[in-house]
Amino acid sequence: LAQIEVDISKVAPGGCSSYKWRGKPLFIKHRTAADIALEESTPMSALRDPETQEQRCVNPEWLVVIGICTHLGCVPIPNSGDWAGGFYCPCHGSHYDNIGRARKGPAPLNLEVPPYKFVSDSTILVG
Ligand code: FES
Repeated sequence: LAQIEVDISKVAPGGCSSYKWRGKPLFIKHRTAADIALEESTPMSALRDPETQEQRCVNPEWLVVIGICTHLGCVPIPNSGDWAGGFYCPCHGSHYDNIGRARKGPAPLNLEVPPYKFVSDSTILVG
């Protein structure tokens, strides 16, 4: 499907649910206040692909990313790795932070944010 509507009301704070969009894995993560505070304090100079929280999230409580590692395309594991609430790719050891920014290992770029918008407080339209 070119577009999918996702009901995010059942994704608990801290949780990350997986969906499929255009044949690709899609992760929707409900970020906690601690997740947001942690990344607000990260300096741009610490990032290999510098993007702010505002650039990556329409609403800071929600992260929407394509679940494909930017190294060689494996599917990273949510809530795993060296960054709290982040993502870990076991294929060659790439770590992403809780807004999917590449932080350690061979991944050169952040996890891709697809086009999406909120159609209500509990529904996101992706695509
Ligand atoms: Fe993810 Fe290589 S494909 S680290």
